[in-house]
Amino acid sequence: MARVTTATIRDKKAKNEKITMLTAYDYGMAVLVDQAGIDMILVGDSVGNVQLGYENTLAVTMDDMVHHTRAVVRGSKHAMVVADMPFLSYHISIEEAVRNAGRLIQEGGAQAVKLEGGEERLPVVQAILNAEIPIVGHIGLTPQSVNQFGGFKVQGKDLETARKLIRDAKLLEEAGVFSIVLEGVPGPLAAKITAAATVPTIGIGAGKDCDGQVLVINDMLGINQGHIPKFVKRFADLGPAILEALRDYKSEVEEGTFPGPEHSYTIKDDVLERLY
Ligand code: KIV
Repeated sequence: MARVTTATIRDKKAKNEKITMLTAYDYGMAVLVDQAGIDMILVGDSVGNVQLGYENTLAVTMDDMVHHTRAVVRGSKHAMVVADMPFLSYHISIEEAVRNAGRLIQEGGAQAVKLEGGEERLPVVQAILNAEIPIVGHIGLTPQSVNQFGGFKVQGKDLETARKLIRDAKLLEEAGVFSIVLEGVPGPLAAKITAAATVPTIGIGAGKDCDGQVLVINDMLGINQGHIPKFVKRFADLGPAILEALRDYKSEVEEGTFPGPEHSYTIKDDVLERLY
């Protein structure tokens, strides 16, 4: 099966077919997400929270993102791989932003990048697009703005911020992004943005009317240690199952019941006897 492209994603909106996206950060999980037929794998900077143990995404570096993107690309054949641009990788200068986006494509092997922000990021968005790098926009509760927002707060609940989100989506679309993540936005507002947009919207905590949905894989599989936001549905509860397996392993090693004969290699008796 050919890899999903930006054209596939745009076509899905035209045909009114829902788009599926999940995060993955390593080879093994990417293999499974790809096998499930998910359209897009996001190597999110949420790697900072869920894999590297940081409090938020702000400490994630370009090198972290390249490293994890390479692993995910090796694990996927069908899904489009989108790599997140981490905090400060596109804020300092346009030149640096283009170089960093290029690293995620050239060194990481991603097919597209995602970056947070609307109107204020347009010059950077345009420069990256000019370098032929497809972009997924990301507006609403953008986690890299956590300190600016004063916490992880739903965005667009009042007239001013709702209007800003509508304007940001329009500007990103006009600039040429091929889809837009809407995070932490009231469902009815996300529905309006989606209906007005010609590019697909992908929601996370933005209701059912977006053109697609994305979740952090650790959250939806139940292997997240921290706070679980309201918008997450646990499609599996793997944390307890993993814990039980680990405890069983510990007991069996301590009791001497693992490894059993079926897990052990043999050697002929006459070879063994001639050793000493
Ligand atoms: O980093 C991430 O996982 C994301 C999603 C929450 C959209 O940006």
